[in-house]
Amino acid sequence: MQEPLLDVRNLSVAFPGHLAVRDISFRINHGETLALVGESGCGKSATAFALMRLLPHGTAIAGQVKFGGVDLFKADARSLRTIRGKRIGLILQEPMTSLNPVLTIGQQIAEGLVRHERLSWTRARSRAVELLDLVRIPDAASRYDDYPHNMSGGMRQRVMIAMAVSCSPQLVIADEPTTALDVTLQSEVLELLDSLRRQLHMALLLITHDLGVVAQWADRVAVMYAGRIVEQAAADALFERPTHPYSQGLVRATLRLDNASHYNNARLREIPGSIASAAGEQGCAFAPRCAQATKDCRRTPPALMPYHDRLVACRLAVDAPEETSSAAVGR
Ligand SMILES: Nc1ncnc2c1ncn2[C@@H]1O[C@H](COP(=O)(O)OP(=O)(O)O)[C@@H](O)[C@H]1O
Ligand code: SF4
Ligand SMILES: [Mg+2]
Repeated sequence: MQEPLLDVRNLSVAFPGHLAVRDISFRINHGETLALVGESGCGKSATAFALMRLLPHGTAIAGQVKFGGVDLFKADARSLRTIRGKRIGLILQEPMTSLNPVLTIGQQIAEGLVRHERLSWTRARSRAVELLDLVRIPDAASRYDDYPHNMSGGMRQRVMIAMAVSCSPQLVIADEPTTALDVTLQSEVLELLDSLRRQLHMALLLITHDLGVVAQWADRVAVMYAGRIVEQAAADALFERPTHPYSQGLVRATLRLDNASHYNNARLREIPGSIASAAGEQGCAFAPRCAQATKDCRRTPPALMPYHDRLVACRLAVDAPEETSSAAVGR
């Protein structure tokens, strides 16, 4: 059995006064795409920043994160710096906040290469032009000296991608990489990211609130709700048979199915209600929005358990562990 590239166990993230991520575990294998999906505020970015150890001061984290066998929560500052940027690339939603406005885009790409790959500035410059070309920026050599504000949103996001992949990382974490872009650009950028993943043999943690993105680009998916993973499955299995009532609502909202009769929760079509507040949680966090909730659901929070080909955290989805195929859960 091959060791996973990333192994996250029992990760919790607490901002002062708010427990944003609650005891989540997942793995990413070499070269695969895992999507982390859930609505705004469910803890996706907190998870990504915890993996990179980039959370604001005063945030408490618990659990274990192993990347290529290295325990990231025990690594010293120096090895963390090498891992970030070189072995793990990060792409954020809004490139303007991540790019430095007073440096040209070429300088910013080259800087990482000088620091991590110890290239001379001359070599870094030509490599940066190659990278701009790789991310399909037309006339790359002449764009090297452009400042971020001279570029369109789509072009800036390509620059971010070039920076993230510049040192051939094993993993790229893309946190809502296309949310700020219009629909046509979204699919272009995702297609680019996916082809780079294959070309450079990278794994991808694709964070999104858009299940349509998952359907097209992910191998496996972890659905998050109120800081927990509520379902984890192969992406096609999740679409064919969403099992957690929240996943069912998400899939239905995405596909806008006319005939929802084989789902037993038609009222969730537009997923009414807002994400549960973390404070004072008792029982299943989805209960206030779940048409199948009973008194039992409100008493005890359901654990994420094997259910057929997947993991599900719902009182209604329970079966014998030996029936579970290990493929879908990445083991
Ligand atoms: N720096 C912070 N301090 C306090 N609460 C925060 C901070 N950052 C995020 N949160 C809260 O943590 C929860 C999860 O946030 P986040 O991970 O950004 O969600 P997502 O990326 O899924 O939209 C939200 O309720 C958010 O308000
Ligand atoms: S445990 Fe109960 S409230 Fe929670 S999703 Fe399942 S049926 Fe709904
Ligand atoms: Mg976010």
